[in-house]
Amino acid sequence: MTKPVILTGIRSNSDLTLGNYLGAILPLIKLQSKHSKDYQINMFVPDLHSFTTPIDHNNLYGNTISNLKIFTAAGLDIHNTGSLIYRQSFVPAHSELTWILDCFVHFGELSRMIQFKEKSASLSSVSAGLFNYPVLMAADILLYDAKYVPVGEDQRQHLELSRDIAIRFNHQFNRDIFVVPEPWDEQLKFADLSSGARIKSLKNPKMKMSKSISDPTGTILLNDDPKTAANKVLGATTDSVGIINFDLVKQPGIANLLQIIALLSGEPLNSTIAKWQGQTSYRQLKETAAQLVEAFLSELQTKIQAVSESDLLAKLQGDEIEVNKIANTKLYQVQQLVGLRN
Ligand code: TRP
Repeated sequence: MTKPVILTGIRSNSDLTLGNYLGAILPLIKLQSKHSKDYQINMFVPDLHSFTTPIDHNNLYGNTISNLKIFTAAGLDIHNTGSLIYRQSFVPAHSELTWILDCFVHFGELSRMIQFKEKSASLSSVSAGLFNYPVLMAADILLYDAKYVPVGEDQRQHLELSRDIAIRFNHQFNRDIFVVPEPWDEQLKFADLSSGARIKSLKNPKMKMSKSISDPTGTILLNDDPKTAANKVLGATTDSVGIINFDLVKQPGIANLLQIIALLSGEPLNSTIAKWQGQTSYRQLKETAAQLVEAFLSELQTKIQAVSESDLLAKLQGDEIEVNKIANTKLYQVQQLVGLRN
């Protein structure tokens, strides 16, 4: 029996933040350690997706490798044989299947994608790649018979489109060629996404911590100098209530600091809240968070330095050979169905 497949993306863009670390990197590592016995885990870098909006192309290749180093330093096990790690552009079948699927997706369907509407609204020039993004994502998923695809709520519509495409294609050719990924509710149950932390900007705690935010002192980058990062925490926006409570609406800055403290100290959030609740020194809360952030970054950066690039490349190259075989087998079956091969 082949194992069911879990497929998940590892971002290739630069400037990963503390928010990415706590909200995306750690959950991925947990997924690997929890499921690699019972599932085949495919973790890939969607590098072809990374320039649907403009980027600095000089840094793309290097950023992919540095990001993978960060994931490895954070605990991703590159020696785990139950998980395949690969770069999308190293598996040409992704692009090839995308073209074929493109001809089975309607213009109207893609026009309704919320992410396309939102992103294109803020751009002066919109690439066809941005429009097509969800079809490449469907190819990423359907090539490998993935059953579970842990993604955030913002990707829900894209996942549902992948299901629609699989169902439509299977129906038209009267063959179960594609495994239809599980519906959204099942995905949520499986990935237990409620546990993923949503860290906010230190300066504007109603907004997500992100590198694109206008005030960079609200965002901690994983490659920030640890002292500088600690100072950003000391400068965090709080409120005028004067008493520590975990209240995401009325005291979002304080709630954010409590979350950071809990996650970095490895304590359950409830115990962290119980410890601080009712105290009045915001200064002390910030100092505790700042010390944890500083220690965390120093340790992580030391670990990143220690990651062996040659081990990482060996893992990628080995897995890419393996993955090309799997993907090409599926692609060939599809090519037969649509009449390109006999
Ligand atoms: N679109 C995903 C995101 O922004 C990344 C991605 C591309 C992906 N292809 C995928 C995620 C396939 C899961 C499966 O997060």
